[in-house]
Amino acid sequence: MITIKNDLQLAKMRSAGHLLYDVLCQLRERMAPGMTTLDLDRYAHELITHAHAIPSFLGYEGYPATLCVSIDDEVVHGIPSKHIEMKEGSIVSVDCGLVLDGWQADSAFTKGMGQISPECAQLIEVTERCFFEGARQAVDGNRLGDIGHAVQQLAESYNYGVIRDLTGHGIGREMHEDPAVPNYGTPGHGVRLRRGMTIAIEPMIALGHYQVHQLRDGWTIVTNDHKPCSHYEHTIAITNGLPEVLTYPGFSWENAPKGENNI
Ligand code: MF3
Ligand code: CO
Repeated sequence: MITIKNDLQLAKMRSAGHLLYDVLCQLRERMAPGMTTLDLDRYAHELITHAHAIPSFLGYEGYPATLCVSIDDEVVHGIPSKHIEMKEGSIVSVDCGLVLDGWQADSAFTKGMGQISPECAQLIEVTERCFFEGARQAVDGNRLGDIGHAVQQLAESYNYGVIRDLTGHGIGREMHEDPAVPNYGTPGHGVRLRRGMTIAIEPMIALGHYQVHQLRDGWTIVTNDHKPCSHYEHTIAITNGLPEVLTYPGFSWENAPKGENNI
């Protein structure tokens, strides 16, 4: 079921989103080559609980941590570990979710550790642009396929692989609500978007092929060809104009990264 949020509910999601932005900024600042992914996870847990919020991933279907930290060929759902170090030259995706006053926020970014290859730097940059291209389509009256198509078109213009086995999602009181929000699609097809809908758009874009598999830990998703993958996610609200990016306070569409079609 797709839930429509009223203004009071949106205000609560905004508070959750703004807190999550704060947390992610601090994580982005703190992470550095040599640090373990468990150290980063512990820091996130402390930041979230100190703000009287709840880490939403922890315990979700038995997931054991606050963050998903996915390195290089890991697409998503990497489990933080004291044995995993974020090494110079790798690209690290950090995905985090929290609940504040009963309302969810979900957001992710990818950061290069120290010096990374130009290919990886471009992959990260284009994945972020894919998000904004997709989100720009999330307006009242458009359809889900318009979002997916915009993401896919930009990614594939770089010959990147658009991960198909995982999608974005509706979000609200629950982390995962209807509808699923794929990063591929056909314009004019799929669920119609309406003001008050809140969704997480999360392009997962690979330097190689889009095929993935799950590791035997039951969580980590990696690319079959072991080429690196980037992930970028925000929670957004559909309004009567361009969407509000709830997990990006201060963001304005005038400063959005430009895509291929909008100069
Ligand atoms: N953050 C993921 C998403 O964007 C979900 C994480 S699964 C969990 O949908 F188990 F780690 F919580
Ligand atoms: Co998500």
